Amino acid sequence: MRAVAIDEFVKDLANVKVKDVPKPEINRPNDLLVKITHASITHVDTLYALGHHQNNKRHVQPPFILGNEFAGIVDAAPAHSCFRKGARVFGGKLGSYAEWICVDESAGDVREVPRDMTNAEAVAVGVSGAVSWGGLVKKVGFSVERMGMRAQLKQGEWALILGASGGLGAIAVQIAKAAGAKVIAVVGSKEKAELVQSIGADEVIDYHEPMWEDKVKSLAGGEGVHVVYDAIGAIESGLKCLRYGGRLVIVGFAARGGQIEDIKANRILLKGVSVIGYRFGEEGRRDPRTTKEAWDGFMEMVRAGKIKPVAWREKYGLEDVPRALLDLQAHRVAGRAVVTIDEGAEEGVRARL
Ligand SMILES: NC(=O)c1ccc[n+]([C@@H]2O[C@H](COP(=O)([O-])OP(=O)(O)OC[C@H]3O[C@@H](n4cnc5c(N)ncnc54)[C@H](OP(=O)(O)O)[C@@H]3O)[C@@H](O)[C@H]2O)c1
Repeated sequence: MRAVAIDEFVKDLANVKVKDVPKPEINRPNDLLVKITHASITHVDTLYALGHHQNNKRHVQPPFILGNEFAGIVDAAPAHSCFRKGARVFGGKLGSYAEWICVDESAGDVREVPRDMTNAEAVAVGVSGAVSWGGLVKKVGFSVERMGMRAQLKQGEWALILGASGGLGAIAVQIAKAAGAKVIAVVGSKEKAELVQSIGADEVIDYHEPMWEDKVKSLAGGEGVHVVYDAIGAIESGLKCLRYGGRLVIVGFAARGGQIEDIKANRILLKGVSVIGYRFGEEGRRDPRTTKEAWDGFMEMVRAGKIKPVAWREKYGLEDVPRALLDLQAHRVAGRAVVTIDEGAEEGVRARL
């Protein structure tokens, strides 16, 4: 099969290669064999290809197939599976830039595509939705008892979303709105501002504006926001935007280019705020029940029609993945870029529904 194979980390994303590799085979009792129809381009993929992600120190080392989010059609499933052959599914698994993938169903990271969504729409929502739901709104339940508190956003609160036009951020904006919060989205261009407004952001700020943090505070009644969702690693800025007693959840470092900032820790004390780290994948490795809980909570919002996929307009095929990664790295993408791998396989299944 064709796949984006990382035999060694690349120095430049232009050197990522699509090549022929063996088709994966079912070898664990809960494995599903999935024909991939679509995959999405994420910030994590750019880091994995370059070897710059913290997971590259232990969990993800060459050789591996790149790609972390897929949608597809189940081709083979064990008799005890929740999925039947022909089911449309989407989820998160390393190896998504390929024609086929084996997914361990018991890891909790694969779900049926809702009937009113296409696979392309589902992959644009993706596992990012479960990540953003877990970090932003999860309040009680098994994961919180076992892994600690999250931002626990409440109705009527002000939420600031950093990296709001990105794959995670665009879903976080909608999750915060669905939770009843007032949302301030921080983005990098006029086009991206329009995009986040179209999915419900109440206020939008361009991060190129000097002292944009002051504007956030004044929009949030002068005191600052209750919750910051930080997908870019701008913690000093986030702390400035928080009100006394607020919560800041760190989800990612998309703006840092590998240089993590040193923060003035006294600000945490002076403002009496909580700073929380949320790592979806690590929680799942420690206990797959936490993955299931985040997916369940998020899928409730999806089924209630509160989440719209935000797919980037450019079309990519599997052979175009290196170009798509470069587009993301160059800030040319808004929402999720979707890679179409085998649209025909889905059309056959939908025709039979
Ligand atoms: N914690 C977890 O469990 C978890 C899971 C998955 C991903 N992540 C992390 O979450 C982060 C976001 O992932 P993603 O796939 O959503 O990324 P993405 O789609 O590439 O989005 C990144 C966002 O960051 C913004 N950004 C980039 N540079 C910026 C800068 N200098 N200042 C302000 N904003 C900037 C981009 O806006 P512009 O293009 O306008 O600059 C874009 O909105 C990544 O760091 C990823 O590793 C964490």
